[in-house]
Amino acid sequence: MTEETMSKHTSMNKVRKAVFPVAGLGTRFLPATKAMPKELLPIIDKPVIQHAVEEAIDAGITDLVFVTGRTKRAIEDHFDANPELENALAESGKTDVLEELRSIIPAHVNCVFVRQAKPLGLGHAILCARPAVGNEPFVVLLPDDLMARSTRPMKALLQNFERTGNTSISVAKVPKETLHKYGIIKPAASSAPGTVQVSGIVEKPSINDAPSDMAAIGRYIFTPDIFDYLKTQAPGVGGEIQLTDAINVLAQMGQVDAVLFQGRRYDCGSKFGYLEAIVDHALEHPEFGEQFAELIRIKSLNHRPKKTGS
Ligand code: G1P
Repeated sequence: MTEETMSKHTSMNKVRKAVFPVAGLGTRFLPATKAMPKELLPIIDKPVIQHAVEEAIDAGITDLVFVTGRTKRAIEDHFDANPELENALAESGKTDVLEELRSIIPAHVNCVFVRQAKPLGLGHAILCARPAVGNEPFVVLLPDDLMARSTRPMKALLQNFERTGNTSISVAKVPKETLHKYGIIKPAASSAPGTVQVSGIVEKPSINDAPSDMAAIGRYIFTPDIFDYLKTQAPGVGGEIQLTDAINVLAQMGQVDAVLFQGRRYDCGSKFGYLEAIVDHALEHPEFGEQFAELIRIKSLNHRPKKTGS
């Protein structure tokens, strides 16, 4: 281990802060998201974003930084106390629900909200978190990517970061026809089981330009250096400041690792992925999972696919 890596280890290995970019407009879910943040769409009774928040807290994160926008005030309310509601629940003896509400943000966890005034891209959103993050490493969770509780990637990512001090990103193999939706890595040598060094990353490439079939899946750990690269980053795909482009600069310097995620992931930014998340969570529901499985079985037996083209 070099002296430089040693000092990276001692000063940087404790990751306390998580950034959640939540300023996006959610146009794919209109009209549901006209007055309501897409991040609060429920998976049965738990908003999509609460899954990502739980994942961060579970991994030991204590400071949550939300980068919000004008139409996102309800997110702030969701993670704040609601004394009126809590009193009403206490008075009516609904202690289970009360406890559940209070444990959304445990006492040792802090929330900070910063605003992204203009929709200039994911990279710009992360840069908006700089004053709240300061000069320490941090994780980024994109709440649209919902990970099944049993296979959450954040702990493996943190372990890699603690080992190498490098920017660490979760990646998964994705079907060829979906490569254009992701940041796709160019893998170099394998550095440990399930981990590869990244020599480049391309945002939303065409099939022909994609350097592999391994996609960034919305979980990242950065050192504060990333802010300097974001600050000078020219607009990329879609005219936006892309996080991927800043990661690419670090990757070309050999400072990025990808940790392979093989668990269950739902793309809740798309209607189909959102629906699949709801169905899986309903099937696993402790109260009515069995009943729901039976319902789905009967429904699919009775379902006649629509004929097309005739
Ligand atoms: C963003 C990132 C992309 C990443 C993806 C993961 O894209 O820009 O690199 O692969 O999240 O979900 P978006 O889904 O916001 O278009």
